[in-house]
Amino acid sequence: MGYDGQIEIVASPQEYNYRNKVRLFVNDEGLGYKERESNKICPVTHCEIANNLINNAILYINEFIKNNNLQNSIDSIVIRCEGQNALINFFVKRKDICNYQGIYLVLGENWGIYETYKNKMYHKLGINKLETDDFNLKLEYGVNTFHQVNPYVERMLYKKVIESVTTKSVVNCYSGAGLLSVFLAKAGKNVEAIELGEDEHSEAERLKDKNNIKNLKNYQGDCQIVLPKLDCKDKTIIVDPPRNGISKEVISFLNECGARKIIYISCNSASLVRDIAILRNYKIVKVYLFDMFARTGEYECLCLLSPIND
Ligand SMILES: C[S@@+](CC[C@H](N)C(=O)[O-])C[C@H]1O[C@@H](n2cnc3c(N)ncnc32)[C@H](O)[C@@H]1O
Repeated sequence: MGYDGQIEIVASPQEYNYRNKVRLFVNDEGLGYKERESNKICPVTHCEIANNLINNAILYINEFIKNNNLQNSIDSIVIRCEGQNALINFFVKRKDICNYQGIYLVLGENWGIYETYKNKMYHKLGINKLETDDFNLKLEYGVNTFHQVNPYVERMLYKKVIESVTTKSVVNCYSGAGLLSVFLAKAGKNVEAIELGEDEHSEAERLKDKNNIKNLKNYQGDCQIVLPKLDCKDKTIIVDPPRNGISKEVISFLNECGARKIIYISCNSASLVRDIAILRNYKIVKVYLFDMFARTGEYECLCLLSPIND
C-alpha cells in the first residue's frame, strides 16, 4: 500500500536523560548493556539517555555487585523510576544469595527492591510500587509491566491518538498497563481494551478502579482470541503490538470487521510495513514519527488508516 502524504515528525522535548526504565546485564566487569543483536555485554557506568536517578544508582549497584562477589549470582537488573522514586528488580540465578540491606541503605527510602528467581518476583525492601498524581489521575507503576520509556513523548503520542479517535466507541488492542485506555475513557469514549500480560491487566484494572472509571472494560487474553468476539463495526480500533507486529489471523479479522478507523502504533517499522501491506481494506491517511527513543536509531510510528473506499 502506497502513501504519498507527508510524514510529520514529533521531536522529543528532552533528548538526554529521558529514559525511565533500563535493563542492565551482569558479567565479571559488573553492569553493562548487551550489544545490538548480540549477547556481548559492554560495561556501563553511565547512560546518556537514562534518567539521572538511574545514573546515580548505577555506580552504587556496580559497587554492591563487585564488593559482594555477586557477578555469578545476578543475571541482570531492571530499574524503573517515576519522579523521585524508583524500583529495582534483581534477576538472580540463585535464590536468597544476596543481602540487599546495604544497597537499600545507600539508595534510600525512595527505592524499592525486588528479586526475581525463575520468573517469580519477591518484594524484598522499601516501596513496592511507583505512585503519582500525574495527568489529574492516580497512577501506579510496577517494575516489570510495559510502559512507554520516554514519558515526555508518551504524553504527546497519547494526545495525538485521542485527537484521532473520532468515534464514540474504541477497541484498544495490546493495551498494556492501561494508561491510554483510561485517557480515552476520561475523554468520553466507550473503551474496550485487550491485553495478554497478567501483570499489565491487573495494573490496568487497578488504574481503572482507583480513578473510578466506568466506561472501560479490560479483557485479559490474546487479541487473536478476544478481538473476534467483539463487535468492531463503525468503531475505532487501536493496535499497539510488540515488535513482531500483528498475527495474520488478527489482520484478517481487521480487514473484515468494518472498523471506521484503525490506528496502528508501532516501534518496529519492518513489521508495521509488512502488516499494513496485507491490511488491504484500509488505506493510510496520515503518518507521524515520534522520537520516543531520542539519540538512538529507533522511533515510534503512529499510522492512521481509513477504509479503502472512504
Ligand atoms: C508495545 S506494548 C503497548 C502497550 C500499550 N499500548 C502502551 O502504550 O503502554 C505491547 C503490549 O502488547 C501485549 N501483548 C503481546 N502479545 C499480545 C497478544 N497476542 N494479545 C494481546 N496483548 C499482547 C504486551 O504484553 C504489551 O503490554
